[in-house]
Amino acid sequence: MKIIIEENYEKMSRVTANILIGKMHQQKRVNLAITAGSTPVKMYEYLVTDTKNKAYFDNVHYYNFDEIPFKQRRGYGVTMTNLNNLFFKPAEIPESQIHPLDENNYKTQDKRIEQDGGLDLILLGIGSDGHYCGNLPGTTKFEDLTSHVREDATENMKDILLSEVGGDEHERPNFYVTMGPKSVMQAKEIVLFATGKKKAAIIQRAFFGPITNEVPASLLQTHPNLTIVLDQDAASELY
Ligand code: GLP
Repeated sequence: MKIIIEENYEKMSRVTANILIGKMHQQKRVNLAITAGSTPVKMYEYLVTDTKNKAYFDNVHYYNFDEIPFKQRRGYGVTMTNLNNLFFKPAEIPESQIHPLDENNYKTQDKRIEQDGGLDLILLGIGSDGHYCGNLPGTTKFEDLTSHVREDATENMKDILLSEVGGDEHERPNFYVTMGPKSVMQAKEIVLFATGKKKAAIIQRAFFGPITNEVPASLLQTHPNLTIVLDQDAASELY
């Protein structure tokens, strides 16, 4: 495990974007699974500038690792909508390089990625409860591949699903899909990034505490190629 601590959010975002860019510069196909959420906003700003109109990045293929469908609205769910707005649309990534995971194809996600050559890198955020992707405490187990998680999986799952769709009760789905811990661990490289004091305690617990399903991200400690990129606030409980 390698930990990079940067002074602030901007620098942490720049370093994370650089890691991705470095991975893209290859002659062969590169498969990246990338995160939505608020942490990557600045990182995608950098990435849009760095990749837009660069035809030589046509070797790079993108995957979302979870999806929360809207109950009524057609088309992309929460994650792909977010990734489209933050990155795919502004960077003008061709559809042929984007491989959406959704409720219709989740059962074949692991096979599909394997057939594509595996993930070269997966970029993860972390929730203050220790979740990454949709691997929340009480949902998936370390041995699970891509999974379907129902609204009755945990006591507060209905509330979580509601907040994911912006509090709109008409759009609250009764499940989501996510790559499981076992799917994520199969990536050749994992990069996890975090910003702010609200992530400081979980960073300490997940990466310096016991490996337990109660803190899903703690499993990532055992990955042979894990890099954690933090700003000083997120790293503030490591000292
Ligand atoms: C959501 C996403 C996760 C992400 C997490 C943290 O649950 N599905 O992939 O890591 O939020 O998000 P944020 O970066 O907004 O703190």
